[in-house]
Amino acid sequence: MSEEPVEGPLARLPEDYFRKPSSARVWDYWLGGKDNYAVDRAAGDAFIEKYPDILMIARQSRALLVRVVRHLAGEVGVRQFLDIGTGLPTLNNTHEVAQAVAPESKIVYVDNDPIVLAHARALLTNTTSEGFTTYVHADVREPEHILAQARTMLDFEQPVAVLLLGILGHAADTFEQMRAITSSLVAAVPSGSYLVVADGAEVGVEEFREATAMRGYRLTTLDQFRACFEGLDLVEPGLVPRNHWRPEKTEVGGNLPPVASYVAVGRKP
Ligand SMILES: C[S@@+](CC[C@H](N)C(=O)[O-])C[C@H]1O[C@@H](n2cnc3c(N)ncnc32)[C@H](O)[C@@H]1O
Repeated sequence: MSEEPVEGPLARLPEDYFRKPSSARVWDYWLGGKDNYAVDRAAGDAFIEKYPDILMIARQSRALLVRVVRHLAGEVGVRQFLDIGTGLPTLNNTHEVAQAVAPESKIVYVDNDPIVLAHARALLTNTTSEGFTTYVHADVREPEHILAQARTMLDFEQPVAVLLLGILGHAADTFEQMRAITSSLVAAVPSGSYLVVADGAEVGVEEFREATAMRGYRLTTLDQFRACFEGLDLVEPGLVPRNHWRPEKTEVGGNLPPVASYVAVGRKP
């Protein structure tokens, strides 16, 4: 991406926007994207230096998104997705995966980074005539605001899959805040809906702990993950490292070494 002054929606950004790394742009850098700046690459490299596995986690996170969305749209038959903390458009975005399985799928993306907003307008657009893809610029710390907007676009009498992938460690300063966000979202959706939370886990990996602390990212303990799914039925295989959630069979067979980032998928009974 050019480092020249920008026009359009990005022109209205806070003056220091490009001087500080943003989680969406650092993530894009780790995924090998082009929508990042020197400040993001420096922050991303400092993290890699402490914890090189983050590159594997970033790539495996997108692979996880594909497996989860395919499962929900395919085997389960969910047709509405509320993907909060979308990130910059990349390969295999939620709407592409869901609409490839079920063209009538409706996707509402939510993020609070202005650069995601700018790209979403151009790239996160419907891939089918039957479906629907839209974007809401909002902060996950205000779930009621997100829900009010989503209600005008999705049918809250029908199941909704709420995706929170790699966002709450950034957005929620405390576990209580994380829990309040997941509770509000789950309370709003009907029976047969799904909650998916993937985030960095506190599983005693010192280098991961140091690197995430440097980025101001809060790790979630496994008990805290489980608490977010209280009252929901966990989908097999339950709470596991991201790369162990229904992995594709590899040629060599066997499981990949577990990553320190976990995921769980729960169904509202
Ligand atoms: C690590 S990226 C994850 C992207 C994508 N979900 C994935 O798994 O590949 C985190 C995303 O969460 C967004 N985010 C962080 N804090 C947020 C907040 N308070 N409200 C809404 N989005 C937020 C960032 O802008 C970024 O796009």
